[in-house]
Amino acid sequence: MSSQTLILVAVAGVALLAALGAFAIAWRRSTGETSWRSAVSRETQKADRPARELVKVGTVEQAPPEQEVTEEVVEVEEAEPELVLAHEQRVVEVSPEEAGVSRRQFFNRALGATFGSFVAVLGIELLAFMWPKLKGGFGASIDAGAVSDLLIATRATDGGTIPAFIPEARAYVVPVNESNLSHQFEGRGVAAGGLMALYQRCVHLGCRVPWCATSQGFECPCHGSKYDSIGEYANGPAPRNLDRFTVEVVDDRFIINTGDIIQTPRAPSRSVEYPQGPSCIAVVVEEN
Ligand code: FES
Repeated sequence: MSSQTLILVAVAGVALLAALGAFAIAWRRSTGETSWRSAVSRETQKADRPARELVKVGTVEQAPPEQEVTEEVVEVEEAEPELVLAHEQRVVEVSPEEAGVSRRQFFNRALGATFGSFVAVLGIELLAFMWPKLKGGFGASIDAGAVSDLLIATRATDGGTIPAFIPEARAYVVPVNESNLSHQFEGRGVAAGGLMALYQRCVHLGCRVPWCATSQGFECPCHGSKYDSIGEYANGPAPRNLDRFTVEVVDDRFIINTGDIIQTPRAPSRSVEYPQGPSCIAVVVEEN
């Protein structure tokens, strides 16, 4: 797994944990103990308020000033304080069903549902990224068509090549004489049924490499790398041949395994002639 993939997986993991944490908080708020204020109606809260408005009223007799003071201790009996209710107290009990869903509960549940959906989508995308074969797109095995049809479509009447581009596989299917192949391709599973599947990316800096019919090769417009008709390095800054996929023939169908990219070094000698005519881009001096 490349470092870019690892970083992407790590970022997705952190986002997943953050989303789970936020979801757990929202869930706890919505299901935990709620304040008694949110559980009862406003009318009931008003009725409960007089409990805090009880008024104490009392009187205490005091000795008249400037009287002769004797040593006799006189016990003064204090009057019992009177309790007066400011309002009539009324308590109304309501069930959770009668109280209904408070505004706070509604927002907490909406928040929880939003984060739940986010986590579910993120999880599915993460799985699809890590296991692209589940999606059936690039990274999976792609059926490029019938071998017999591809052999006809990719071979010109004069014996030249006309690559068939397969968008789902991001690959050019080209005809190849397997008995003429360079040794570096032997046992790599890159040719089957007289066909090869070349990855469209230039191995220099990743531009898509177009086909040049006149020279019978692939020529990169970005920095001028050139490859022959089966993707062998010919010229320019590219460090190796065009990458290619492992392929197989199943019931006359040409199958490209786009999850299995094969890299090969610059061929010591090419398997096909190149160029066979004028180039589509300026000639670039070979590096190294
Ligand atoms: S990207 Fe193709 S030559 Fe640089």
